[in-house]
Amino acid sequence: MYKLIAFDAYGTLFDVYSMGELAEELFPGNGQTFALMWRDRQIEYTRLVTMSDPSSGGSKYYLPFWELTVRSLRYVCKRMHLNLTPDYEKRLMDQYAKLTGFKDSLSVLKAIKAKGISTAILSNGSREMLATVVDSNGLTNYLDRVVTVEDIRLFKTAPQAYELLLKAFPVTKEEVLFVSSNAWDALAAKWFGFDVFWVNRLEHPFEEISELPNYEGNSLSKVLEII
Ligand code: LAC
Repeated sequence: MYKLIAFDAYGTLFDVYSMGELAEELFPGNGQTFALMWRDRQIEYTRLVTMSDPSSGGSKYYLPFWELTVRSLRYVCKRMHLNLTPDYEKRLMDQYAKLTGFKDSLSVLKAIKAKGISTAILSNGSREMLATVVDSNGLTNYLDRVVTVEDIRLFKTAPQAYELLLKAFPVTKEEVLFVSSNAWDALAAKWFGFDVFWVNRLEHPFEEISELPNYEGNSLSKVLEII
């Protein structure tokens, strides 16, 4: 029934919270808090940039996701009074560039392709950073397209971001299943008109401002049970 299954990248296929371990080594006692605050600030910046100028030609405040990731890293270190040396910044960003995939990312993509369904990433990530992380996890051959918001210079949750999938594939909204571990992303994709699968690995509550996602599971593998 679905012709395309599209995945969010960071947090969904790739484990952003694994950054906490390196952060703990660099900033003992602060790793987990730091990793959460870094992620929150990074997403906050994408929203700030998008909402402050949601023009059809893209936001004049747009900076690539990689750059927002560095800037949010610097912000959080200042805010938490952590000494971010140039060496620490490089180590953290090098690890971010090559984040490890969740253990079932590859097998799930393979299984979907084997069923003849198209696969894609739809991510806020910049083209180059996505190419690097997809390649370092060996996913390249199992993704038909890696779709990035870079061309429209507006981040999710702008509807134009989700619409990119309809431009990249000959499918209707109803034929797309969007998979994300970010509740806000799953919610916005549902508002856009996709069916959504929310990967809820940490038993979090869903957002309180919408109906529930179409599907929910505690791992990516659970997607295979509904297709
Ligand atoms: C992405 C982030 C938002 O990959 O997870 O788009």
